Amino acid sequence: MDTFLRLAASSIGRKMAVAALGLLLCGFLGGHLAGNLLLFVGQDAFNAYAHHLETFPLLEPVELGLASIILLHAAVTVYLKVTALMARPVGYAVQVSKGGRTWGSSTMIYTAVLILVFIVVHVATFKYGTRPSPSDLYGLVMGYLRDWRWAVFYALVMGGVGLHLSHGAWSACQTFGIDHPKYTPAIKAVGTAFAAAVALAFAVIPVWACFIKRGQP
Ligand code: HEM
Repeated sequence: MDTFLRLAASSIGRKMAVAALGLLLCGFLGGHLAGNLLLFVGQDAFNAYAHHLETFPLLEPVELGLASIILLHAAVTVYLKVTALMARPVGYAVQVSKGGRTWGSSTMIYTAVLILVFIVVHVATFKYGTRPSPSDLYGLVMGYLRDWRWAVFYALVMGGVGLHLSHGAWSACQTFGIDHPKYTPAIKAVGTAFAAAVALAFAVIPVWACFIKRGQP
């Protein structure tokens, strides 16, 4: 217990917490993606899935847990950044992370803000939006994504999610000590491939809804 408390109060312990929370969020994204791919199967399949989800008895605690994980992941990251900046008031001219500077690492703060704003808009529209009928979540989602402006917004955000994950996955491995000069390129390649696959699979949904399903039931 004592060791745990000391770890939780240390900078490395907090980094591990950010990485572990990030990995939990990756698990959520994987499940969320799998559910959303049912949009391709059709209205009945997607609405049946939504019904199962919405009638799940532990839905509220799970949602509360998910919201806490998202907020903690963001809050501890901000805390770590602020304390690191305060400890080193004169920054280095060039900051190079151990894994080298990549698009993912240099845009991390922007993609984080984009994703947080997206989640607020996304939940407000898709979870609390008005459905064509109470059991028709498919109709609500497709109603938005058939509109090219929402489809472009979604496709852009999914690019941001991919960039964020590409650096996040690598950074989490580093934090947990999965880091060896010989294997670093392979670990980074796996992280990038995972991020690209998740982002692409999500992005295909608005593109399909807007270009292929427009004007169709
Ligand atoms: C094309 C991509 C996406 C589609 C079609 C989609 C669809 C949906 C739908 C339909 C809901 C409402 C579920 C319900 O009320 O039963 C939802 C909720 C949610 N989505 Fe997404 N989503 C997408 C991408 C994402 C991404 C990339 C994230 C995170 C970065 C995300 C985070 C969430 C969260 C946090 C909720 C609230 C979950 C809850 O409280 O039950 N979604 N999404």
